[in-house]
This record gives sequence, C-alpha cells and structure tokens, in this order.
Amino acid sequence: MGGIIVKEKIGFVGAGNLAEAIIKGLTNSQSPEIRMTDRFQDRLLKLQQIYGAIPATLEQVVLESDIIIIAVKPKDMVDVMGEIKKLAFAGKLLISVAAGISLGIIEKHLPGAAVVRIMPNTACAVLESVTGMVKGSQVSEEQAKSAAGIFATVGKVLWLEEHKMNALTAISGSGPAYYYLFTELLLKAGIELGLSEEEAEILVCQTLIGAGHMVAQSGKTPGRLREEVTSPNGTTFAALQVFTQAGLGEIIFKAAEAAARRGEEMAKEYAG
Ligand SMILES: NC(=O)c1ccc[n+]([C@@H]2O[C@H](COP(=O)([O-])OP(=O)(O)OC[C@H]3O[C@@H](n4cnc5c(N)ncnc54)[C@H](OP(=O)(O)O)[C@@H]3O)[C@@H](O)[C@H]2O)c1
Repeated sequence: MGGIIVKEKIGFVGAGNLAEAIIKGLTNSQSPEIRMTDRFQDRLLKLQQIYGAIPATLEQVVLESDIIIIAVKPKDMVDVMGEIKKLAFAGKLLISVAAGISLGIIEKHLPGAAVVRIMPNTACAVLESVTGMVKGSQVSEEQAKSAAGIFATVGKVLWLEEHKMNALTAISGSGPAYYYLFTELLLKAGIELGLSEEEAEILVCQTLIGAGHMVAQSGKTPGRLREEVTSPNGTTFAALQVFTQAGLGEIIFKAAEAAARRGEEMAKEYAG
C-alpha cells in the first residue's frame, strides 16, 4: 500500500457510503484532487468539510477528472450512463462499482469507453479493503495500472475474470456484514452471560481484531489456528461442537450462495 502516489484527478458520481469510504481512504494516505457530485448538496458539503473533496456538477466531474468512479446504486446506473454519454468521456477511465452491472452492459451504453468494473468493500475507509477488478476491452495497460493504484492505496487489489465477480461479491463485497453480524451476536451472548455492554464490547471487538491479525500474520491456516485453541474436551471444543451440530458450515455456504445468486439475478435484471 505504501509508496503509491495517485497523480490522476479523480471524480465521483454518487457520494454515498462507498464513495465516502474510498474518499476517506484516499485522503488518509495522500492528497489527490477529488471532485464529486451527488443529488444531495448537503452531502457534498459535508464530505467537502471532512475530506476537502470538491463539490461539482456531473459535467464538471466528467470533464475535469482523469478517472471517474461511478458509485451509484445499480438501479441508477442507466440514468448516469445516459448523462455521461452526452459528455466528452473519450480518453477518461471509467470505474464502475455497481453490483451486477456487467462490462458488456456498460460498454453497450457507452460505446468506446475504457471501463474497469470493480467490487471493493467499505473497509476502504480504514485502508483494509480488498477490491476485485475486471478490465474492459478498451482499457490500456497504463489505465489498468492507474485503477489498481487507486485501490491499492485503500487495501489489496485482485484482478480476476468477470464470471467470478458474483462469487467475489458474495465473499468480500458483502463479507464485512457477515463478520459484523457474528460480532453483534457474540456481543449479545456476552451480555446474556453476565458481562456489561462495555465489557462485552472490548472483549468481542478486540478478539475480532486479534483473530484477523493472527490469520494475516501467523503464517498458519485458519484451520490450524482453530485447532491450536481447541483442546480436546475444553471450552472452545464445547462451543465449536454446537456450531458443527447446528450445521454452521452449511449455513455459511447457503448464505454465500444466496448472495452470489442475487448478484446473478441483478445482472439479468439490468441486462434488460
Ligand atoms: N456499500 C458497500 O459496502 C458496497 C460495496 C461494494 C460495492 N458497492 C456498490 O457501490 C454502489 C453504491 O453503493 P452505496 O452503498 O455507496 O450507495 P448509496 O449510499 O446509496 O450512494 C449512492 C449515492 O449516489 C447518488 N446518486 C444516485 N444517482 C445519482 C445521479 N444520477 N447523480 C448523482 N448522484 C446520484 C444517490 O442519491 P440518492 O440517495 O438520491 O439515490 C446516493 O447519494 C452500489 O452500486 C453498490 O452495489 C457498495
């Protein structure tokens, strides 16, 4: 992550949750020139105050940026592409974050456009995102490098084939919410077992962070780490048996499969 300098001017169409996470991460690590547009002026003024990004019209974002990150909901993509089509976007790199909208659809709406389709997650805000990226047919090597450079400043980057995008979305796009849910439920369990809310929060959150660092830094697989804390017939063993008997593995597979299937359905809906 360190050492990457983003030289290009970056523009955002849509300044919602994900755009803010990326802007936060980018401005955390360096000071690129960022323009942004949104339907809500108040939202733009708030982000300007916090991150110094410049409120702009869609036209200014497109004309005055080298790289345009389209961060609106999939349902708004067709409208936004219609607006961009009227402007001089040739030579600019467009980056789409919209779940379920294929490169084919974007290239159909914006013929000749250089497009990279990505799926980051909101951990961009703390520079710990992982961004899956797919390169469109008109994207040069240099543009691909620039796109990867932006997202490498806010975490890790993984180029992959487009047919794997729904699987990636199910794992790392939606994934943070799975860990948040597990964290919420463990907090609740801690309180029910007699801890105060504050005590449970310290214990649960630091355990999540510690386990994450162990997975990242110990050089051991998650399975090996699990075995190391599970003495036969001990406390962890008792808990893990309950997970296994309740079919946790199957539940997790079904959940990930549902997310991937929803991605496929969305792709069909938006393919028209
Ligand atoms: N949140 C995540 O964790 C995450 C992770 C990976 C990918 N994504 C993808 O990122 C995209 C954005 O998600 P989000 O959670 O950031 O959504 P969001 O918070 O709803 O942000 C989108 C923003 O864009 C605005 N907008 C819509 N159409 C516009 C237009 N024509 N011109 C200007 N602004 C416009 C929206 O305004 P309105 O509120 O008026 O609609 C909203 O403020 C989605 O496609 C999603 O699939 C999200």
